[in-house]
Amino acid sequence: MTADLRADRAGRPLKMVLDCDTGVDDTLAILYAALHPAVELVGVGSVWGNVDVETATRNSLHTVHMAGRPEVPVARGAAGPLTGAPAVFAYHVHGRDGQGNAGTGRTVGEPVAETAAEQIIRLARAHPGEVEVVAVGPLTNLALALGLCPELPELVSGVTIMGGAALAPGNVTEVAEANIWCDPEAAAAVFRAPWPLTMVGLDVTMRTTLDEGHRTRLAAGGTIGGYVAGILDHYMGFFAEAAFGERRSCLHDVLAVAVAAGTLVPTLAPTVRAYVETGDGPTRGQTVCDLRGMYMGFPTQDGARCRVVLETDPAFAEAVVDLIQTAGDSAVPLDREEQA
Ligand code: BDR
Ligand code: CA
Repeated sequence: MTADLRADRAGRPLKMVLDCDTGVDDTLAILYAALHPAVELVGVGSVWGNVDVETATRNSLHTVHMAGRPEVPVARGAAGPLTGAPAVFAYHVHGRDGQGNAGTGRTVGEPVAETAAEQIIRLARAHPGEVEVVAVGPLTNLALALGLCPELPELVSGVTIMGGAALAPGNVTEVAEANIWCDPEAAAAVFRAPWPLTMVGLDVTMRTTLDEGHRTRLAAGGTIGGYVAGILDHYMGFFAEAAFGERRSCLHDVLAVAVAAGTLVPTLAPTVRAYVETGDGPTRGQTVCDLRGMYMGFPTQDGARCRVVLETDPAFAEAVVDLIQTAGDSAVPLDREEQA
């Protein structure tokens, strides 16, 4: 099910801070947030994950500029997990440039002076109760923000993450999804904090995909659509081998933005108790969601705070393609810069 604007905001767009480890699907998420009238994108933070934080920052800046939104502040965030363990990146999924090896190689704009965690806190204090934090990479920045500002849960409207797997298998281990697996300690802190948390995990993001028909449609749009079609090529190749046996790729991060904005309304999303496994055994990084009420229509649970999205309409992919295809031309040059 899709809706134009979340009713309880009386038609006003949602103020959103989007925290990304900007690879291919994150780029689509930033574009969606920057272009959709249901979202007021007030800030973007970058974090390590798919790629190193420098590359993620550069890609986030490039994307907001491409979308004609250079005024959106982009803040650089954490370079590795909370524990100080070495960072591991997913260049094989997103390309060495995080843009499917099809990026421009250009650096556009500059990050703001504050860190991504500081930016979250500043924006939450500036608009108490109005800002939704949407985090679609490892949750390191958000955990750091909580450490710096323990009252943050009272200052934001809520937190929506792309991450975890409730009933679906993991995509790094049998049970762990990449964003949680990268920094389980940070994720555990985010799941423990007393804010309304929405988990948009692999249960739905593996079922909403783009195929070659969508790429063709994107390529027929303006230069933004053409750019997105280009960066999806390598990404689809990864999914063909690792997941689907055919050229199709997950939208992952866009779903979290749209669920937060109310433009994608889940058809099943119980609010339950949930926690993140941080032990060193084979279940490290698992999101353990108490879904035992499933056979009774999910009766109210004491202490439940995590809305776990279990079903959404896969046709949402069409709406994403429509938005990007009709976005027109990039505000910055998209030809590939010659490397020295
Ligand atoms: C998540 O991990 C990253 O690779 C994607 O950008 C997405 O946020 C999917 O598991
Ligand atoms: Ca991501």
